Amino acid sequence: MMNVSGGQPSSGEDRARQVHEIFSRIAPRYDLLNRVLSLSVDRWWRRRAVRALDCSRNDSARYLDACAGTCDLAIELATRPDFRGTVVALDFAEPMLRRGRGKSARLPVHPLCGDAQHLPFADESFDGAMVAFGVRNLAHLDLGLAELRRVLRDGSPLVVLEFTIPPNPIVRAAYLWYFRHILPAVGRIVSGHRWAYSYLPASVGEFPGPQALGQRLLDAGFSTVRWQLLTFGIAAIHVGTR
Ligand SMILES: C[S@@+](CC[C@H](N)C(=O)[O-])C[C@H]1O[C@@H](n2cnc3c(N)ncnc32)[C@H](O)[C@@H]1O
Repeated sequence: MMNVSGGQPSSGEDRARQVHEIFSRIAPRYDLLNRVLSLSVDRWWRRRAVRALDCSRNDSARYLDACAGTCDLAIELATRPDFRGTVVALDFAEPMLRRGRGKSARLPVHPLCGDAQHLPFADESFDGAMVAFGVRNLAHLDLGLAELRRVLRDGSPLVVLEFTIPPNPIVRAAYLWYFRHILPAVGRIVSGHRWAYSYLPASVGEFPGPQALGQRLLDAGFSTVRWQLLTFGIAAIHVGTR
């Protein structure tokens, strides 16, 4: 990721601190920018991710939305007509959750401030977990995946929605141009944050591709890992079973 001066990628605690700062500062404009920059396609991606979770329709079922941000994914799940149970929406940036609380007050969604790499839950306490555009931001991806596996019951799914680099060279060229030029400029103007939306393309560029992420899920102990590309390969959904 970019550091505060817009220079070198950072890692570890430095990265966690910078990610926390970015999302705390852009929280008031985060939803608006998602809609504008993706032309609302992000909503469709989240809907697909929730469908991939294949929730159990059980009143006592518990689901985790990790790196929940403003709770859009948790809300997408909780407002499904056939949904039963509760969703814990965990994020370490309180200002993001605050927006989510406002939107989910009447729903079975419980926003909780916490670190996805040190989940404050007992082993095997969830029937499903999901992360949208979150694992890319973790300072230690493997630690986060191991934690997600730990809190899932045996046989329960983890769904990961993330940006990817499109495989088709023409689509990729157009996408990278948009990602490197338009997105940072619009992001800077609307969010008022100087480099938050330069961080986005930088973080996607250095994140493992779909095949490599599938392998990381297997290495973390998930079985039957599968994935599908969305919208010309701009995003991907991975599903792993605990
Ligand atoms: C790009 S946003 C995604 C938010 C939401 N899932 C969505 O679909 O819009 C990434 C979120 O991950 C959170 N995050 C990053 N690292 C985290 C960590 N270690 N623990 C908890 N949340 C984290 C950030 O605070 C931010 O809200």
